[in-house]
Formats: sequence, structure tokens, C-alpha cells
Amino acid sequence: MDDKRKETAIVPEAGQKVTFSGNLGYILAVAGSAVGLGNIWRFPYLAAKYGGGIFLLVYLILMLTFGYALMVSETALGRMTGKSPVGAFQSFGNQKWLTFGGWINAIIPMLILPYYCVIGGWVVKYAFEYLRGHADAIAADGYFGAFISDSLGSEICFAVFLIAAFFVIVAGVKNGIEAVSKVIMPLLVILSVITAVYSVTRPGALAGVKYLLVPNFSQFSLMTVVAAMGQLFYSLSLAMGILYTYGSYLKKDSDIEKNTTQVEIFDTAIALLAGLMIIPAVFAFSGGDMSTLKAGPSLMFITLPKVFDSMGFANVIGSVFFVMVLFAALTSAISLFETSVSTVTQELGMKRLPASLLILGTSLLLGTASVLGYGAWDFVRIFGMQVLDFFDFLTNSMMMPISALFTCLLILRVTGRETIAEEVRLSSQFKREKLYYFVIKYLAPAFLIVILLSSIASVLGWIQI
Ligand code: TRP
Repeated sequence: MDDKRKETAIVPEAGQKVTFSGNLGYILAVAGSAVGLGNIWRFPYLAAKYGGGIFLLVYLILMLTFGYALMVSETALGRMTGKSPVGAFQSFGNQKWLTFGGWINAIIPMLILPYYCVIGGWVVKYAFEYLRGHADAIAADGYFGAFISDSLGSEICFAVFLIAAFFVIVAGVKNGIEAVSKVIMPLLVILSVITAVYSVTRPGALAGVKYLLVPNFSQFSLMTVVAAMGQLFYSLSLAMGILYTYGSYLKKDSDIEKNTTQVEIFDTAIALLAGLMIIPAVFAFSGGDMSTLKAGPSLMFITLPKVFDSMGFANVIGSVFFVMVLFAALTSAISLFETSVSTVTQELGMKRLPASLLILGTSLLLGTASVLGYGAWDFVRIFGMQVLDFFDFLTNSMMMPISALFTCLLILRVTGRETIAEEVRLSSQFKREKLYYFVIKYLAPAFLIVILLSSIASVLGWIQI
């Protein structure tokens, strides 16, 4: 592998020993995995659903304390051990809890990939329909609902997206896709800025800007915190082993503290931009109607087409936008896929092709369940949730807190906070060391346990959050 390719690899292929050749390469790679549907699709709908400004405030506070500490820890542990999560945990001993800690990190991407591809399929459908010039039909009321309840149609879109990711993985053209997406991403940012400005300046939209940016404390609930925490994990690709893996490719002189801060800023900026595109539009087009605000996963697919429709040239703008989102989603799906494949090859000793087929197979099965959950299996509720929502809740609100808890335990009981700090200080000033110590020892464990218990209690119907 030559130097040029090293720099563009987002998740290097299993078995290759790679280091990033520069800070920029690393930041782009981590940002590439961080920025995806989580920012553009998931953040706006959660912010709309859980109280707007108050959600944003809780999210920011969590990110600066908790997200920061966890991100630094995972990266430092990865760099220190030079291993992905299972190996990293096991390099400190072979007790059962260490093995479990490594595996729970490694399994999460395998559970996210299927439903990520279902949403990816929705993006495929929208990109395709806009390219065919169907902007009017897409903007019509009820379009999205009709589409997802047609199981066959959405299954095809899901399969197209998943199989595209699969081919990229087995054909080894991943770096090509990633190079393209590096050009596309800045364009996506520019188009998003234009759309956000347009959306914010619609009559009536200002109420939406206020809703998103100004905290209203009466909207606060425990669920605001649970949802913000889940989003933090999801959006920064935390608590699922990704940063261990990236950290293991990182050179000793690369500034962990600075890189972390930059990725956090970038990721949040994109999420905010998407929020400004979508939430004010809900107010402009439906007067901030509560049922639209609480639409959940479908929000982006319902409001944006209406914005585009009123902008004029809807087919052009819609095509450009959804094709770009498709790329952002595809690069994230590819790295979810790659991470899953490398866990299977490294830990189960399988060859690359069978491992890829195995992940493809499980993803097809689990993803199909999510697709059917909106269509033929519409009546199915798992703990009161639709199938896709259930997978999302299971990974983000239950498994990720557990996996983050294991990272904290590893640090508190085995390595010691000082060892992590030393690793960070090799290349950074570590200005927020005191904050780091406090968060890892007190705030994070206490908080994670509260989150976990309240998620469990809500699933069992004991509390309404
Ligand atoms: N962070 C990505 C997003 O915002 C989603 C994601 C979660 C992801 N975990 C990942 C992407 C692992 C790549 C690898 O859309």
C-alpha cells in the first residue's frame, strides 16, 4: 500500500498494518465516519422530538464533558495497545469481563449496519425519484408513509444500498469511493448552508429557529438526556470500538486532544446545519404542528421535499442533495461494514470473503425485519417500538452505555487514569486533564448507570420517559 492510499483509507482493511500519514488524514478519516446519516437525518428528528433548544443544550454539555473524555480514552487506548477493541481489552488480561467488554464494543456496529442501510435505502429511493423528475409527487402529503409501507419497494432500495456497500468492500474499491466522498462532502456542506439559509428565511420559520436554539426548560425530561446521550454515541461513532481501531493507526506524535476537539466541532456544526435546514421548515410549512415535530425517523423525508418544492428547481436541488447524502451515508456504511468484517476475520479467524458474506447475510435478515416493521409487519411492536426504532434503541440506549461503562472500568480498574493521561501527553498538552479525571471517575460511571437503568425501566414500562 503506498503512502497516498494510506492517507485516504477510512478503515484500513483487515490484517493491514497502517498508520495515518498525517493529522489531516486522521481527522478526515474520523470525520468521515462521524458525519453521516446521524447528523443529517438523526439529529434533527431527535432535536425536534425532544424539546429543541433544551435537547441541544443537554447535547452540548454532554459532548464537552462526557463525549470528550470517552473519545480521548478510546483513541488513547487504541494507540497504546495498537489493537481494535477485542484485542485492546484482551491485551490487559484474559478475565471474562475484559473479553466481554471488547466484544460488546465490536458487536454494536454489526447491529447498526442493517438498519443504517434501511435508511440508506430511503435515501436511494429519494435520489432516484428526484433524478427522474418526480419532485412534485415526493412533496405531496403521505408520499413517504406510502413508500415505507410498501415492503417490497423499500426492501429493494435497502438491498441496493447494502449490496453496494458489500461490493465496495469485496472489490476493494473503498479508497476510490472515499476519495470521491471527500470532494462531495464539502459540496454537501455548501448546499446545506444554502438550504438552511433559505429555510430559515421562510415566513414563520423564525419560530423554528427559536425552538431549536433557545432552551425551554419546561420541555426537559429524563428522555431528553437519554436521547441526547444516544445521539452523542451515534454521531461521534463512540462506544463501539471504532475509535480504538482508528487510535491504533495513529502515530505517537499526533495530537489526540486537538484532533478530538476538531472532530467534535465539525460533527456538531454539520448536525446544527441539518437542524436549521429541517426544523424551521416544519414551522414554516405546518406552523410547528406537534405531530409533525414528533414525526421521528421520517422527519427529514417529509419536510425537506416540501422545502425543495417551494424553492423552485426542486428536481435539480433534490437530486443534488440526496445524491450527496447518499455518498455521506455510503462512506459511513462502508466503514461500519469494514469494522464488522475485520472483527470477524481477526477474532474468528475467517477469511475475508466468507466474513463479508456472513455480515451481508445477517444484515439482510435484520434489515429486512426493520423494513417489514413499517409494512407487512406493521402490527409488530417490540417493547412498544417499531422494529427499526427497537434496533436503534437497543444499540444506542442500552448497549452503548454498557460498552462505555466497560471502557471506564478498564481505565479505573486496570490501566489507571494516569496511564491514559500519559499516553495523551505524549503528543498533547492535555489542558483538560483535570476535567478528564473527574469525568472518567465520577461523572461518567454514575451517569451511564442512570441512563442504563432508565432505559431498562422504560422498556419494561415502569417509567414513562
Ligand atoms: N457516526 C455515523 C453518523 O453520524 C454513524 C455511525 C455510527 C458510524 N457508528 C459508526 C459510521 C461507525 C461509521 C462507523 O452517521
